[in-house]
Amino acid sequence: MKAIVCEEFGPIDSLVYKEIDTPEPGKGEIRVKVKAAGVNFPDGLLVQGLYQVKPERPFIPGMEFCGEVEVLGEGVKHLKIGQRLICTSQSYGGFAEKAIVNSKLVMPITDDMSDVDAANIMCAHGTAHHALKQRARLKAGETLVVLGAAGGTGIAAVQIGKAMGAKVIAVCSSDEKLAIAKENGADELINYAENDLKASIKELTGGKGANVVYDPVGGEAFDACTRAMARNGRLLVIGFASGKIPGFPVNLALVKEYSVIGVFWGSFVMHEPMPFLQNMQELFAWYKEGKVSLVTDEVFPLSKTSDALAKVMNRKVKGKVVVVAE
Ligand SMILES: NC(=O)c1ccc[n+]([C@@H]2O[C@H](COP(=O)([O-])OP(=O)(O)OC[C@H]3O[C@@H](n4cnc5c(N)ncnc54)[C@H](OP(=O)(O)O)[C@@H]3O)[C@@H](O)[C@H]2O)c1
Repeated sequence: MKAIVCEEFGPIDSLVYKEIDTPEPGKGEIRVKVKAAGVNFPDGLLVQGLYQVKPERPFIPGMEFCGEVEVLGEGVKHLKIGQRLICTSQSYGGFAEKAIVNSKLVMPITDDMSDVDAANIMCAHGTAHHALKQRARLKAGETLVVLGAAGGTGIAAVQIGKAMGAKVIAVCSSDEKLAIAKENGADELINYAENDLKASIKELTGGKGANVVYDPVGGEAFDACTRAMARNGRLLVIGFASGKIPGFPVNLALVKEYSVIGVFWGSFVMHEPMPFLQNMQELFAWYKEGKVSLVTDEVFPLSKTSDALAKVMNRKVKGKVVVVAE
């Protein structure tokens, strides 16, 4: 089978598209014929050795994908050959024609969901949902500020914030990106390349500050938000797409009685499987009702996965990119 292989940590263009032996599933595992795989910022960090998890090399990246069951391993009784499903981030291997996964970490999907949507719903929407529901406990009527609001997790946070009844302020680096955030439900828009972020949040919240900030960007944007929180606010630490992990003067949290809250969706999936499954059911219901949707910027063939990853890491993507089997 053909696969994208990370032979050693390094630049994205050092990934190799090559023929490798087709793997066989072990006990409790299945082999999936991969139809499409979502491309995520963490995939780009992972292959460069910059992610918090460092797999043994060589490995095949690709944290979320959809496909069809091809082979059932020993003891797997609850799935059928040919069944369509999505596979969680607990296994890598999505950027390949076939992948081995734990049969307990897959979710069957219905035929009304396309391969491209199915490949993309889990990581970004799953992260934003967990962040806003379990971590921030976002309430209807609260003000939610979303940074990087046209990015993968950002658009998801805008849609899910609206589904949960919040007033959503989208923050992006260009008017073109803000237009996408608006199409996805944002109530107010801030271009933080042109405007002072702290002052803009204060202005749009009548001086009170944000109840919840969703921050996948870090750096100076995080710093600005630490000074624009409402009393009892929750500042969600999602990621550091800017490349800068900020420090934090804790007196700011004291004065406004707000919380800085870490979010690690992969850890949630591993440690809290039941709430994870309940979240996914809620997400699928919102998808069917049209409250959440997948915004796909570009579809690449599997052999061009490096180009897809480079587009994500170079701040060029609106929504998500996907790779599909050739
Ligand atoms: N905690 C978790 O469980 C979890 C799960 C998934 C992802 N993440 C992390 O969250 C972060 C964002 O992921 P994502 O999927 O939303 O990524 P994405 O689709 O690439 O979006 C990130 C956004 O960050 C902004 N940005 C600011 N400076 C940037 C820079 N120097 N390079 C690239 N983007 C920059 C961009 O928006 P503007 O141009 O509008 O500023 C971009 O749209 C990553 O650090 C990722 O590792 C965390």
